[in-house]
Amino acid sequence: VSGRTKPPNAIVTGASRGLGFELAKALAERGWRLVVDARGADALEAAADELRAVGEVIVLQGDVADERHRQVLVAAAGEPVDLLVNNASVLGASPLPVLADYPLAELERVYRVNVLAPLALTQLALPHLGNGAVILNVTSDAGAEAYEGWGGYGSSKAALDQLTAVLAAEHPDLRIYSVDPGDMRTEMHQQAFPREDISDRPPPSESIPGLLRLIEGELPSGRYRAADLVPVSSAR
Ligand SMILES: NC(=O)c1ccc[n+]([C@@H]2O[C@H](COP(=O)([O-])OP(=O)(O)OC[C@H]3O[C@@H](n4cnc5c(N)ncnc54)[C@H](OP(=O)(O)O)[C@@H]3O)[C@@H](O)[C@H]2O)c1
Repeated sequence: VSGRTKPPNAIVTGASRGLGFELAKALAERGWRLVVDARGADALEAAADELRAVGEVIVLQGDVADERHRQVLVAAAGEPVDLLVNNASVLGASPLPVLADYPLAELERVYRVNVLAPLALTQLALPHLGNGAVILNVTSDAGAEAYEGWGGYGSSKAALDQLTAVLAAEHPDLRIYSVDPGDMRTEMHQQAFPREDISDRPPPSESIPGLLRLIEGELPSGRYRAADLVPVSSAR
């Protein structure tokens, strides 16, 4: 960010709470100009107040599964787009059903939000990406491990990982990542474990240094785990 005349532009989806909000806050503090969204207006407005206190933020209420909303997001970001973070995601049915019982209409919705929307946003953003731009797709260990009950959400993240890998092969001039942030104490995590006390899970802020290292570093495109990206000096 330093040494530039214009602040860099980023789109961060799903920034009204959880990881997306923490990342948006960190980027705003570092001088990024942000476009953020979420569906729920109340939480988004509260987040917007906090984000606007630290930086330049355009807040757009909408659903990433909606084509019109995606067009508005990209148009609002200005030129060039330096960073697209596909963070918005849904868990799907809760409590987590086994695949034998998975309601297919719900699975379709999960794929629309977790897979098709990130690809569609990427397609829209690609012509506007600047030199050295970054696409960061937020994935999950559930996309790589076979946990019972996690087949719907997990298969959507596996698809997102593969889209990310192929996009990276097709665009060697860009840095295109998927990143597993690790378990985090968020609404989505509570939804996955409805009656459990999840207070032992780390807050989403702990995943931010790893994400920033991808965004601001020079690591090659690929799939990373945020926990592996913390500087050695602060590793536990
Ligand atoms: N929490 C974990 O343990 C964990 C672990 C591994 C990976 N992840 C991944 O980390 C990312 C962030 O998750 P989180 O735990 O921070 O979740 P979260 O607390 O549920 O936050 C999700 C954010 O995305 C927004 N969102 C959801 N669906 C959207 C849609 N269709 N259009 C626009 N915005 C939407 C939500 O607001 P609205 O609902 O109001 O739209 C909210 O702002 C996700 O990609 C998730 O899959 C989480």
